[in-house]
Amino acid sequence: MPDPPMTAVSEAEVRVRLEGVSLCYRLAKQRIPSLKEYAIHWMRGALSYEKLWALHNVSLTIRQGERVGLIGRNGAGKSTLLKVISRVLKPNLGTAEIHGRLAPILELGTGFDHELTGYENIYLNALLLGRSRREIDAQIGPIVEFSGLGDFIRSPIRNYSSGMQARLGFSIATAWLPDVLILDEVLTVGDAAFTEKCERRLAEFHAAGTTVLMVSHVAQAVRENCDRCIWLDAGRLRADGPTDEVLDLYAHAGTDPHQRAAGQLHLG
Ligand SMILES: Nc1ncnc2c1ncn2[C@@H]1O[C@H](COP(=O)(O)OP(=O)(O)O)[C@@H](O)[C@H]1O
Ligand SMILES: [Mg+2]
Repeated sequence: MPDPPMTAVSEAEVRVRLEGVSLCYRLAKQRIPSLKEYAIHWMRGALSYEKLWALHNVSLTIRQGERVGLIGRNGAGKSTLLKVISRVLKPNLGTAEIHGRLAPILELGTGFDHELTGYENIYLNALLLGRSRREIDAQIGPIVEFSGLGDFIRSPIRNYSSGMQARLGFSIATAWLPDVLILDEVLTVGDAAFTEKCERRLAEFHAAGTTVLMVSHVAQAVRENCDRCIWLDAGRLRADGPTDEVLDLYAHAGTDPHQRAAGQLHLG
């Protein structure tokens, strides 16, 4: 049965819409150590690439206020999908529409300058999020406070552990209420106390209507923070539906050969 026509109201609620998104990384086949070597290869027409399709024909719609978990094995394309939604990568095929103010925390370290201090990175990141100098001045105290980094805030990011980077990233991205919050493995790299603090903030954002899209390899984190779950498998959308059902399918994947052949599932 075809979908019922979308009303004007539900159309206005769309935050993310991907249609037939495919993305290909090009990997140089030969190692080219210098720009000069590159130029020589280029002039000879001897540059060759291997293509790696990280996303295949992904279509999905996410609406205002939804809390969506993205799961799948290592290399399934989760981080790539979040980068397409965050406009860091442009799909080779298909279209990506994003509506509203986005606050992305991508793969560890993306967006940080490792030679700058935590403090300087707050300015850098918040400016990239579209905040003015004055807005950042007003929030810098609360950002540092929430991060719990203490004196480390004056030290270069390269001295930070992954947990510390995640804490700083989360503190910056959530200092202002975004329409869409994107988290790539952020909740589970900090310590338990920080995770709890993040989850409280997520709950406040949810109450205020923010859309949350998060990747996590920890099923419990998805179960507690998401109503809907999307399973990516080798760059393809494998299942999309209520969190418990999709996590269940995922947990039993590989043990049931019939299920593997079933292709994409839309549940709920
Ligand atoms: N910058 C890149 N250049 C080339 N290949 C990449 C790059 N980033 C990711 N890939 C490849 O794309 C696929 C999907 O990666 P990724 O989106 O990071 O998966 P996930 O986040 O689910 O672990 C993997 O095979 C990975 O090796
Ligand atoms: Mg990833």
